[in-house]
Amino acid sequence: MFLQRRNRILRTNPSIRSLVAETILTPSDFIAPLFIDEGENIKFEIPSMPGYYRRSLDLTIIEVKELWSLGIKSVLLFIKCDDSLKDNTGKEAWNKNGLMQRSIKAIKNAVPEMIVMTDVALDPYSIYGHDGIVENNEIVNDPTVDALVQMSISHAEAGADFVAPSDMMDGRIGEIREALEINNFTKTGIMAYSAKYASCFYGPFRDALDSSPGFGDKKTYQMDFANRTEAIKETLMDVEEGADIVMVKPAMAYLDIIREIKNTVTVPVSAYHVSGEYAMIKAAAKMGWLNEDKAIIESLTSIKRAGADLIATYFAKDTVRLLNK
Ligand code: PBG
Repeated sequence: MFLQRRNRILRTNPSIRSLVAETILTPSDFIAPLFIDEGENIKFEIPSMPGYYRRSLDLTIIEVKELWSLGIKSVLLFIKCDDSLKDNTGKEAWNKNGLMQRSIKAIKNAVPEMIVMTDVALDPYSIYGHDGIVENNEIVNDPTVDALVQMSISHAEAGADFVAPSDMMDGRIGEIREALEINNFTKTGIMAYSAKYASCFYGPFRDALDSSPGFGDKKTYQMDFANRTEAIKETLMDVEEGADIVMVKPAMAYLDIIREIKNTVTVPVSAYHVSGEYAMIKAAAKMGWLNEDKAIIESLTSIKRAGADLIATYFAKDTVRLLNK
């Protein structure tokens, strides 16, 4: 047989394959989400996220140091709010001495170069488990944006490098940017969850923070997973309003959206490989149905190949270990 081109030549052995690999994962691709709780010496394994923990601040600091030593340059903070502090205004979210604010300070103090990003949404603080303020069973946009602005300013004040609004209210990026400017936080970035879908894949996360919606679902603010063009609209608006980094979430079921956004914007694109995506791999591996290590690398490589410059993933640490093997 005469063939002008034999494509298999470039796949002959590991050396040539690595020479022509188009996508390579590195530790600085990752954002490691961290769940923080009150108390001391607490390390609670999240039942629906085996191998992932909610920690008290003291143990969180140890974890952050380890992440830094592995080459991971960013953490994304989530706190579990005590039930007694939850209400419908979410005011604990901007308490100067709140767990989030103390955590930001302590982490920046312990590892100053680590980029600290913070989740901005009211759900952990809401008695209703919704991302915004509730009036007559509705999540009201404009009062929620006012709350998110206060929350963002208080994170900036505590020393956060980036605030990451994950709420999907209209107009919040512009309002947050303006408030940061007015308050002279000209070095605080915004990573906007721009194309965030109403997804069943957030289930385990809501277990981790005890933040499931008390009524209804999040479909009046998070996006309909049937839509692609709408993701472009949402993302372009966030960029226009001042987002430094935009995000698509979840990741694996939304690779088309990641690519669409990557082709459309000129800011870095991040993708969130969410709790349910973590849980699926863990569960299948536990059953012996998937090779966990291979599933992790293939999943994260495909997210990067789709166009993600940054990936928030609960596998950040495992992946760096695998890359170093
Ligand atoms: C809060 C928030 C959620 C996630 C990140 N920020 C939950 C939700 O929107 O219900 C999900 C993360 C994950 O599932 O890993 N607004």
